[in-house]
Formats: sequence, C-alpha cells, structure tokens
Amino acid sequence: MKHHAHATRLALAIAAIFATPLAAAPAPRDAAVRYDTAAHVFRLDAGKVTYAMGVDPDGKLQTLYWGARLAKDDPLGPAMPAPERSSFDPKGALSRQEYAGWGGNITAMPALKVKLDDGNRDLILRYDSYRIDHGALDIVLSDKQAGVDVTLHYTADDATGVIGRSAHIENKGKQPLTIDSAAAATWSLPSGSDYSLRYLTGTWAGEWHLQTRAITPGATVLESRRGSTGDENNPWFAINRGGAWNEAQGDVWFGALAWSGSWSIRVDEDILGQVRVTGGYNPFDFGYRLKPGESLDTPVFYGGYTGDGMGEASRLLHRFERSRILPGGDNAKLRPVLYNSWEATEFKVDEAGQIKLAERAAKLGVERFVVDDGWFGARNNDHAGLGDWTVNRTKFPNGLKPLIDKVHGLGMSFGLWVEPEMVNPDSDLYRAHPDWVLNFPDRQRSEGRNQLVLNLAREDVKAHVFEVLDKLLAENDIQFLKWDYNRNWSEPGWPQMAPDEQQKVYVAYTQSLYDILRRLRAKHPGVEIESCSGGGARVDLGVMALTDEVWPSDNTDASDRLAIQDGFSQAYTPAAMMAWVTASPSWANKRALSLDFRFLSAMQGGLGIGANLLEWTDADNATARHYIAEYKAIRATVQRGDLYRLLSPQQRAPWSATNSVSADRKQAVLFAFQRDGEEGRAFPTLRPQGLDANARYRIRYIHGAGAPGTPDAASGAYWMEHGLDLQIKGDFDAAGVVFEQR
Ligand code: DGJ
Repeated sequence: MKHHAHATRLALAIAAIFATPLAAAPAPRDAAVRYDTAAHVFRLDAGKVTYAMGVDPDGKLQTLYWGARLAKDDPLGPAMPAPERSSFDPKGALSRQEYAGWGGNITAMPALKVKLDDGNRDLILRYDSYRIDHGALDIVLSDKQAGVDVTLHYTADDATGVIGRSAHIENKGKQPLTIDSAAAATWSLPSGSDYSLRYLTGTWAGEWHLQTRAITPGATVLESRRGSTGDENNPWFAINRGGAWNEAQGDVWFGALAWSGSWSIRVDEDILGQVRVTGGYNPFDFGYRLKPGESLDTPVFYGGYTGDGMGEASRLLHRFERSRILPGGDNAKLRPVLYNSWEATEFKVDEAGQIKLAERAAKLGVERFVVDDGWFGARNNDHAGLGDWTVNRTKFPNGLKPLIDKVHGLGMSFGLWVEPEMVNPDSDLYRAHPDWVLNFPDRQRSEGRNQLVLNLAREDVKAHVFEVLDKLLAENDIQFLKWDYNRNWSEPGWPQMAPDEQQKVYVAYTQSLYDILRRLRAKHPGVEIESCSGGGARVDLGVMALTDEVWPSDNTDASDRLAIQDGFSQAYTPAAMMAWVTASPSWANKRALSLDFRFLSAMQGGLGIGANLLEWTDADNATARHYIAEYKAIRATVQRGDLYRLLSPQQRAPWSATNSVSADRKQAVLFAFQRDGEEGRAFPTLRPQGLDANARYRIRYIHGAGAPGTPDAASGAYWMEHGLDLQIKGDFDAAGVVFEQR
C-alpha cells in the first residue's frame, strides 16, 4: 500500500514537471519575470536584484538564488535536492524549498503543516503549473493525494528590487483539514555562513531598539503571540553576510511582513549552514479549518537585497513603502503640522479648553488640531466609556460642531481619537453585549487598562464598529482619526463558533480590521488615519497600507526619541512617522530639554506639538513659529527624501545625526544632537551624504552655527568629503542645517 502511494506520487511529480502553464500570458518584452522551460527555472529581475527558483527532479520547487542582479544569460539551475549526508539527513530532507509542506523526510522548517480529518499529516508539495500576469508570477504547488493546492504569488518592484511573496492555500480534497501552521514565504539565503541578524525589540514607551546577533546553527524566533503586531519584536529583519556591514557597505538581505495579527519570523541555520527565514501567521495556538473548497490566504512577506549596507536597505524599504504601501503612493499628501491635546489635558477635554488650545496652535502655524481621548461616553479616566462613541454632553454640551467649526475657522483640519476595537466593562456597549468580547465561557476575562477586546472576527461586532465610525464621520466634519489600540489579547476564545473553528480568530480578526479600514477610507476619502497602539505596537506593512501615518512611541522625550526614531527608520519611512514636541521636563523621565532640541528632534518625522500651549511664553511661541516655518520649508525632503544616518544614537551613544536629501537633490537637511557632552571632546565632523557632488549648495542654519571659517556655500563634494564642523557643546545641544542648490 505504502509502495503504491509512493509510486503514484512519483508519477504525479513527473507529470507535474511537464505540466502546461495555466493560460500563460505572453510576458512583456523586458519582463521582470521569466521562465526557462528547458532548465525549469523561474527568474525575477527587479531593480538591482535577481531571484530564481527551479523545479528539481522530484518536482519540488527550490530557491536557486536571491541577491545582486545577474546577467540575463547566467546559468541558474537545474535545481537538485540536497544530497544525502547520512541516514539522519537523507537526500532532499534539507533542500532549500521555496515553500515546503511538512511531509516525507523533511527536517527543515516547513512553510505549511496540515492535518487531514482522517489523521493524515503528510504533505508533499510539488510543482503543478504557473502563470505570468501583469508582471506577477503565480506558481501552483500541489499534493493531489492530500487534496491541497498552494498558489505562490510573486510580485517584483522594479524601482527597489523588493519582492512580495504570499501563498493561497486551498483544500481541493474531499475531507476537511486543519492548517497547523502557514507561512507567507521561506526566504533562503545564498549558501555560506558568517551571517548576522538585525531586528527590533521594545516595550511600551521604549520601542524600536536595534539588536544584532550572529546567526549560528539553530533558530532565532521573532514573533508576536499578542493578537496584534506588538512592540516586543517588530515584523522586520535584516541579515548581513561577511560581518563587514555598516550604513554604507555590506550585503544586506531584508524583509518585512505585512500583517497586524500574531506573526512569526523564524531564522534558521541548518547543519549544512543554510540560512532560511520563514515568516507568516504565528504557528503558536494556530489552527485554521478548511472544508473542501475553502481556502486561506497568507499575508505578504516582502524581501529585498542590497550590496550597499544598512542605510541603502532602509532607503529601499522607505521608497517601497512610500510608493507601494502607503495610501496615495507617490501622490500621498505630506503630513500636516499637528497639535494633539493628550499630554496637555489627558481626559479633561471640553469645548472651552480645546478652543483655547486651538487658538494658540493656529497662531504658531499648526495645520491640524486633534482631540485625543476623553471626548465621548463616561470617559473621565480609563475606567469607563470605551465603546460608547457618542459625544460626552457635559464636556461638549453642543456636540463637537462648535469646536470643529472653530478649528476650521482657524484654518486647521480637525482630528479625533478613537479606540474602536476596545470596550470598558463599565460601558453601555458592554452592558448590552457582554458576549462581544474575546473570551472563554465561564473563565476570567483578564483586563488591560480596564478594557477588553471586542471580537472583530464576529460579523455583528465588525458591522457595529464600522457603523459607529461611519456615523461619526458622516455626522461630523472630521479629517483625521487617531486609531488607538491599548492592550494585548487574552483568553482569545470565540465561543459562538464550533470548537474546531474558534482559532480562525487569529486570521479573521485582523482581516475584519483591514476590511473596516478599507471601507471607511472608500466611503470617507477625505479622512486620514493614524495607527497608534499605546505608542508603536501596531506598525507593520499591513496596517500601513490602510493608514496614512503611525505613532512610534508614547515616549516623547526628545532625547530618548532619537534612538526610537533611529530604530524605527531601519524599517519604516519617516513619511509616516509622527513626532511631537512636548513639555519639559518630560513626563517620561523628568529630563529637561530646550525647546530647540525638542523641535529639531521632532522635525525628523511628521512634526506635531503635544505640549500645553497655555503654558508657553511669548518667547516659546516665537521659537515655535520659527521651527514650524522652517519645517514647512524642508518637510518634503524629510518625509519623501532619502535618509542617511550619520551618527547612531543606539546604545545610549552621546551623539546622533542624520541628513535627508530630496529626490532631485536640490535640497538637503541635516540634524545633529549631542546628548552627553564631554569637555575637550569635540562633536565629530559631519559628512552629509547623497548630495550632488558637482552642484553648489548654500547652507542655512535652522539652529546652531558652523565652526569659525565654515563657508556659506560650497560644492556637494566639499560638504560630503571635507565635511562640516558644528558648534555643538555641552549636554543636549543640537543643530539643524539646510543645504540648498543655488
Ligand atoms: C495611548 C496613546 O499612545 C496616547 O497617545 C494617547 O492617545 C492615549 N492612549 C489615550 O488614552
């Protein structure tokens, strides 16, 4: 019987190798996607990257190459299974499969693991067919006997070389099955060892720490088991080969997963020294039932390569995010200068108080006024009101209209804070629908910040959340929502579903979130949205496709923020990174900083103010007006330009410096900070990068001054090679310099 199944499989594999393409569309002339029929090799060429995979004699699809672009006729393939090493590591067990099913003799980390209802858990995915359509490639892998088809979807972005990979998993069989784990992709790096990994870790008010570790035999798992993206790890990685990597040099492979639910990215080095990165749904507590005919789509896992170091890896990702991920693409609006009242008033918002702040903000040049938490329901602190999205009539007796009209009259757009996925047990919504939250019947419902998580996977809950927000936006002239999310999941039960269907919540919840955001955007195209999760706990390419900006951290101390922003910028574009100027000393760490330092730090992203403007002096207001005007003159360069990290503030380093250059290289802006001055030790000479060497740039100081003798104008080459010495001295001094082609 066993023999028979094996023979059938072999026959299927051979048939698969010669399978005809699925209605293959003729590829455009300079197509990025090619299929070499003779070698049975698929090849994607995009930007400076080549990616290739081939079908081995056993019908398995194997990664052949991912890295710097190769010549068109370079030989790639044929794919061969990993050779037998011993009886413990037989032939093929450690092959670099593109998307391995867990079955046969495989010992490498599989991308997909399923369990058929009859108990069979053997899955061997072999090549079936392919299709090239509009530059995208679909490859169908199949286990006909198990009744499982997987369509691997590939896109390639020519501007950046970023490749997108995802999988569509379909139950084509006659019996139900459960998916135990499903990755979006496995990325295999070129053979060789001496790889190291960079990744991001964090916690509330301490997000975006950059970590580095050697990749050695074994596994490193980056993940969130929290139900949402989380800040413990962020779904991004960068890997270097050879150890010699810095901002400007070194081979770097990088990737980011577009998913805002529980996720995992696992980096394995096997006994052959092969490095694989497998990422997708977190297998932890996963279980997704598929009845015959049903399917599951994975998130997209994006990956890229550069030979030019971490700085270029970040710039490629930034460019990709701006043009391919964020709404509006290259035509997206620049982030307006924003005021948010949270740190000034917390829950004590009311019409008169907010109007006073709005009047002050408008005079400074602020363009958007945002009312944060506390405007709705019985929300006087964080114990009550979440879920009741009607205006608190004690605080706003005439509704929000008078305030909104006032804000508009002052020439600003109006924004409002919401936390739509949450409910306080002390709320009318929870009293009416205690069954709407994630829970296991008769078990404790653990609270976080006195709130529970609404189960968006339920159709009625999803419909309710959409209706509430739709109504809010229809009835009020609102241009911006700050969408907050302040706790992890706990007791993630979905008792209304059959026991074996409940774990679908890990997928369905996030899909519902995306669906709500998508529909709201379509119905209210004038409304922009910020993704906030108690700071930076929901920043990923999934949510960024549906939001215009993100909040990196509740820690608004301008010195801590330098490292936070530096970590953020490894993976994400400053075009989406909001940064506020807040009170000094900071609530976070009691550190006192000048308004200059605070503004210059916040000007590295989307500038906002979160301080209590009623406490600002005339001198403060004048300072703020200066920086806001300067910011408007350079924000296109900060948000859309190329970012160069010159001095890293990681590991509590004393210095930090960056420069950004506009796409046409006509303008550049440099920010420099000293956190910890040491008498006798001068601030390093700065060599901005990315300027046009042959063009002449005049410099202007937003703040600070050059060392005596610094010229007002010189060539790009001069600034980049000779460098610029700034007069920065003592603790917490800073400077900002604009370079303009004249
Ligand atoms: C957490 C956010 O990160 C803060 O900016 C603020 O909006 C509070 N929630 C409000 O409760």
